[in-house]
Amino acid sequence: MSKKKIAILAGDGIGPEVTKEAVKCLNAVADSFGHQFNYQEALIGAAAIDETGDPFPAATEKICKEADAILFGAIGDPKYDNDPSAKVRPEQGLLRMRKNLGLFANVRPVKSYDKLLHISPLKEANIKGTDFVVFRELTGGIYFGEPRGRSENGETAFDSCVYSKKEINQISRKAFEAAQLRNKKLTLVDKANVLATSRLWRETVKDIAQDYPDVALDFMFVDNAAMKIIQNPKHFDVVLTENMFGDIITDEASVIAGSLGMLPSASLGTSSSLFEPIHGSYPEAAGQNIANPIGAILSAAMLLNYAFDMNEEAEAIENAVFNALEEELGTPDIVAESKAKTTTEVGDRIAELIKEKASVGA
Ligand code: IPM
Ligand code: MN
Repeated sequence: MSKKKIAILAGDGIGPEVTKEAVKCLNAVADSFGHQFNYQEALIGAAAIDETGDPFPAATEKICKEADAILFGAIGDPKYDNDPSAKVRPEQGLLRMRKNLGLFANVRPVKSYDKLLHISPLKEANIKGTDFVVFRELTGGIYFGEPRGRSENGETAFDSCVYSKKEINQISRKAFEAAQLRNKKLTLVDKANVLATSRLWRETVKDIAQDYPDVALDFMFVDNAAMKIIQNPKHFDVVLTENMFGDIITDEASVIAGSLGMLPSASLGTSSSLFEPIHGSYPEAAGQNIANPIGAILSAAMLLNYAFDMNEEAEAIENAVFNALEEELGTPDIVAESKAKTTTEVGDRIAELIKEKASVGA
């Protein structure tokens, strides 16, 4: 029996709907395995701006720091997207949270599911059996570099991409360690033919590689990697990359899984860890009970695995998702409209399958 505190940051748009289903699955795990999970909800994003004027209020930061793990939904509201003069944006909350909690390593696994191969616009033979993981640096690079802003006359704008060896080192070691437990192959994705930061990445990663002689290291420019990911995704095992490139190639990679709604992620630091689906707040679908909860549910599985070392429990969730897909259960993004289920129904069934402790796995 294990007692754990989980901070729940549901956020905006479909965030609350999908997070609710992930919590349902965590409760199914708690029941089946005899654990106790205590949840504490906190505000973030547009929801937090509406209530407090701040997208990442101090009270939320405190709850996050006191929790054993954080489950996060989504952030973003169109009312800010179309207003370039908005001083406070929901996304600032997410970025500040990542920075303040030191969540430097974003882990995004990409897998194809046999049952969903046909919904991907990519050729089935190319994507069948895809299984790689992207380690995206999350607290540096162009997202945070200074100086940034507008010139005095407003005619130019600038962002800075800055990386230190220390930042590159801490995520790279996590990626190498992951590669050692997988197929022992690591691809550094960069733009070293153009960017000074990328050349620092290459130099630093080459040095680090000497500590992991069992891992084969290769390098790929990001433009070429963007092509290879959809042309031959089975080339990859562990992909290591900087913040912005990682953001872009993981959305691209979700096409392999069939839907952006399928992909989970973990954001790891030295003292906190956060788990969230990679999709955004999808405001068009909010409140309609049609959003795919599987990315959020698989994020709960990653939480059990990475934050609590509950491997069997995590596997119970993954198996339940696999079995649900085998039953052709899913929201309209992955199942034909006529057979599609609601967000709630998908969550209910997966929770039920967890309780049955489904043991037939992928
Ligand atoms: C993500 C999102 C965020 C990012 C946005 C919402 C700031 O796209 O988590 O991938 O760019 O990191
Ligand atoms: Mn993104």
